[in-house]
Amino acid sequence: MDRIAITGGARLSGEIAISGAKNSAIKLMAASLLTDEPLRLTNMPRLADTRFLGALLRRLGTDVQEIDGESASETVLRTQEIVSAFAPYDLVRQMRASFNVLGPLLARSGHAKVSLPGGCEIGARPVDLHLMALRALGAQIELHEGYVYAQAPRGLTGARIEFPLSSVGATEHALLACVLARGETELVGAAREPEIVDLAACLNAMGAKVEGAGTDRIVVTGVARLSGATYAVAPDRIETGTYALAAAMAGGEVRLTHTRADLIESLLSKMEQAGVEIERRNDGLTVKRNGARLSPVDIETGTFPGFATDLQAQFMALMTLADGESVVRETIFENRFMHVPEMARLGADITVSGGEARVRGVARLEGAQVMATDLRASVGLVIAALAAQGETIVDRVYHLDRGFERLEQKLSACGAQVRRLSDREGAS
Ligand code: UD1
Repeated sequence: MDRIAITGGARLSGEIAISGAKNSAIKLMAASLLTDEPLRLTNMPRLADTRFLGALLRRLGTDVQEIDGESASETVLRTQEIVSAFAPYDLVRQMRASFNVLGPLLARSGHAKVSLPGGCEIGARPVDLHLMALRALGAQIELHEGYVYAQAPRGLTGARIEFPLSSVGATEHALLACVLARGETELVGAAREPEIVDLAACLNAMGAKVEGAGTDRIVVTGVARLSGATYAVAPDRIETGTYALAAAMAGGEVRLTHTRADLIESLLSKMEQAGVEIERRNDGLTVKRNGARLSPVDIETGTFPGFATDLQAQFMALMTLADGESVVRETIFENRFMHVPEMARLGADITVSGGEARVRGVARLEGAQVMATDLRASVGLVIAALAAQGETIVDRVYHLDRGFERLEQKLSACGAQVRRLSDREGAS
């Protein structure tokens, strides 16, 4: 298993081009199941998760072509016919978002058998709201032996679907299912994250009629068929925020390009309160930090435009070196402080109680061997390591590979001392 070695202390200087958003890309890929024409996705990130979904889609009947040039990567997906409407446990378990093929399979072929995803590192993460939405659209759903058996032999029918809590995945799933339903669907209490806006825009480019994405009420007028389209994946807001925090942690000046500051405004205002300089630009932003210790700042995660839970571990890393005590409240997932004991190995002083972590800033962190527990937690450790004295080895890097494209190269290009230890090298 690969590991990453980071020698802390180097200031960062340079430019990082942000990739297309992982969490958008995998839902847009699933949208290709809704049409027999080619869907061409540009600005595609190349990640373990996108490769993984590509493999599942191929099993379902999609032809998936990856075209990589000097500065562009595209994926062309074409599902002339669904050859199998079955997504097995071993595939869905590895990446929860593959559960979202259920809706499009059902919409296109009238039936599907998809494994329930089960729990994951950051909590139970149920799919009850996904199933509620599909049932509201007229699907008959039964659960047996860990599988969802869904039927809609005469197609899905538009409905009013009210979400009792905001769920990105369930909103996306409902959208993917209802664009081909008969009549109008109203999603009330819909999630407002930028990934929903991205999915709706791509579906509209394919001929769907979706209005209101980005608000908590989305109205969809069903159409009989969708066509192919070319669509550019939006910039990854979590990658943007992560590198902004990396620059703040290490110090120096880093320009983030191919992205949008407005996607992470809640993070940027907290960083400014802490004493980091941010310059918002047309093609992204510049992050600067020179000298003085940062001030402690409290955060509470929330739905968009609130503070993204996927940036919580990285922000906590920054606060471990602040001049005083800060509080980090996690309100989205119940078990999202797994990075805390690992950060403690680097010398951080953090106490967790329920959904709240108290971070008492220390004067210095020290390199150590640590273990990545999930995608965002592991990149939080990388950020902490950038400012730790000596070498940190982050184990279980496959978590990082799921969501960060060429992380070592992007950071090293700005002067960070980061290298990957492959299996063989790690063993020697
Ligand atoms: C997505 C993102 C993830 C991000 C999260 C919140 C992807 C692949 N993942 O996850 O990176 O951290 O949004 O921004 O896009 N819930 C239920 N029942 C359901 C569905 C969700 O109770 O049927 C709960 C969850 O347990 C959680 C909350 O709702 O507590 C929000 O989860 P949700 O927005 O659905 O997150 P995901 O779509 O799984």
